[in-house]
Amino acid sequence: MLHVPAAFSAGVYRGVSMRLIAFLAAFAALGGTARAAPDKMQAVEIGPGATLSVQVRPVPRAGAGEVLVRVRAAGVNPVDWKAAPRRVGLVPGVDVAGVIDSLGEGVTGFKVGDAVLGFARQSGSYAEYALIPLTSLARKPRSMTFEQAAGIPVAAETAYRALHEAGRLTRGQTVLVHGAAGGVGSAAVQIAKAAGARVIGTASADNHEFLKSLGVDKAIDYRAQRFEDAVTQVDLVLNTVDADTGARSIGIIRAGGALVSIVGPPNAAACAAARIRCVRPDRAAGAPNSELLEKIVELADAGKFKVFVDGAYPMTDVAQAWEKSRGGHTRGKLVIQVSAGSAAKHQ
Ligand SMILES: NC(=O)c1ccc[n+]([C@@H]2O[C@H](COP(=O)([O-])OP(=O)(O)OC[C@H]3O[C@@H](n4cnc5c(N)ncnc54)[C@H](OP(=O)(O)O)[C@@H]3O)[C@@H](O)[C@H]2O)c1
Repeated sequence: MLHVPAAFSAGVYRGVSMRLIAFLAAFAALGGTARAAPDKMQAVEIGPGATLSVQVRPVPRAGAGEVLVRVRAAGVNPVDWKAAPRRVGLVPGVDVAGVIDSLGEGVTGFKVGDAVLGFARQSGSYAEYALIPLTSLARKPRSMTFEQAAGIPVAAETAYRALHEAGRLTRGQTVLVHGAAGGVGSAAVQIAKAAGARVIGTASADNHEFLKSLGVDKAIDYRAQRFEDAVTQVDLVLNTVDADTGARSIGIIRAGGALVSIVGPPNAAACAAARIRCVRPDRAAGAPNSELLEKIVELADAGKFKVFVDGAYPMTDVAQAWEKSRGGHTRGKLVIQVSAGSAAKHQ
């Protein structure tokens, strides 16, 4: 049976366009697959001093060009805790995987009940319901659990833009990925391999088997060896670690090569002297990225992109997840288990 949202009660029907009525009728024809979210939900909220608690909050409603998703899992990124002091009173998190609950006006190509992933920048993602704009929405890879899928959006977008857009990666090039076992690094290794690159990755020795499982051709233990002594004349370096690692990378890149940094700009004069391009991924927050996400989903469906979940935490334990993330040694991704079925591949 179709559950009609309170907002569509008799009095409000006056003025509702024929298009919306047709839309609701289409759900009814689907045998009642339309679900209306409740008015209230459980969500993590950032308090003063970036404290965290689970609160009852209003469920957001999908506006034009948005979908409302019943969240199964939310991905953790360092930006979540870095931005927390500026987001008091709001729901943290960007990465989300779940099932579409309702469609805003003008949304095509998706239907209620679809398993999806995407960016929930405005609403936040550590909540039972989150809003994803159509421009940042993709279907969930069939082979992935919701937890794995929740680890895709920010890390994969960053890695893809860093390698393909900023780095102009071409087949046959040699790429060095610093921090290859982390969220962005592990995504970058797989995206570079899929593009036909030779990939070298830095990580501590404990992560070398993991790097091999991602496809790296050569792993460097940054604790036992200076990477400058192990590699030279690479075409492209992706630095996900720190400014010092970026500065030390300039000397191992061939003239005409590129250093892409997502952790602060390297010294421009040193880059010019070495005749390399030093760049950041060009990404305005909120820029459309659904086509990019779809490319990653296709890689995942082809078995060429995986997400390793290092830890899955209930909403009550977000502080522990952030503490682990702050430690700087996450393997793959951390995720928040938001609702039942987060570890399932299907609904
Ligand atoms: N500008 C952007 O658009 C953007 C987007 C996303 C992320 N970021 C930033 O990029 C950084 C990485 O993000 P992330 O999500 O990938 O973080 P992450 O998952 O927390 O990265 C953790 C990884 O870093 C590795 N690591 C730590 N120190 C290392 C070192 N000295 N050399 C090599 N590897 C080292 C660790 O490997 P071991 O355990 O083996 O040491 C671990 O696997 C963060 O600062 C984040 O804020 C920026």
